[in-house]
Amino acid sequence: MELFTAIATRRAVKHYDADAVMPDADFRQLMAATLLSPTSYNIQHWRFVRVTDRTQRKQLQDAAWGQEQVSRASELIVLCADTQAWQDRPERYWADAPQAAQEMLVPMLKDFYRGREQVQRDEAMRSCGMAAQTLMLAAKALGYDSCPMIGFDADAVAERINLPEQHVIGMMIAVGKAAKPANGRGGQLTLDEVLMENRF
Ligand SMILES: Cc1cc2nc3c(=O)[nH]c(=O)nc-3n(C[C@H](O)[C@H](O)[C@H](O)COP(=O)(O)O)c2cc1C
Repeated sequence: MELFTAIATRRAVKHYDADAVMPDADFRQLMAATLLSPTSYNIQHWRFVRVTDRTQRKQLQDAAWGQEQVSRASELIVLCADTQAWQDRPERYWADAPQAAQEMLVPMLKDFYRGREQVQRDEAMRSCGMAAQTLMLAAKALGYDSCPMIGFDADAVAERINLPEQHVIGMMIAVGKAAKPANGRGGQLTLDEVLMENRF
């Protein structure tokens, strides 16, 4: 599917064919694309919990105000992030770069995030956002629909997935075959309302 078509036709779809199974090759392709999303200093804070257990799905649905896409979509991914990824063997993020780049960037990234807890968390969430959009557009290109979700009890979901210390949940994303299309768009702001030139 052409990129602009995927962008224009991706919608938050809430009703899924519960019998549709995503072939493993599609799941791998979807995730491989997602992993190419950009992150600050290439830190790749994201950690994905793929929920395949049906009981776990039901429990997460209960924690998500009963939203049916949580249990009915082919795939449910809880998109998490490690806020401390910036200091967890950061050499990994530049392992394939020339030595000179590595020697410059690794100390630089540590200096940027050290002692700045809010920025560490913001960055983890930004990385989740980047991954989420890639995942949803890639899903669309592969013939699937998706629904990003933050409508859930975060503490309950964290407990269910054993979220480690210093990790955050960015959102959940359901991916599957639509049983019903999304409703019409809610109301898009015009470019004039949101675009400033040079300053607010
Ligand atoms: C971070 C985030 C959280 C969302 N949470 C929910 C949710 O819990 N349940 C839901 O049905 N839709 C949820 N949505 C979908 C939005 O309502 C939807 O993206 C928005 O209305 C625009 O519609 P569209 O995605 O179809 O273009 C969420 C979207 C985002 C980006």
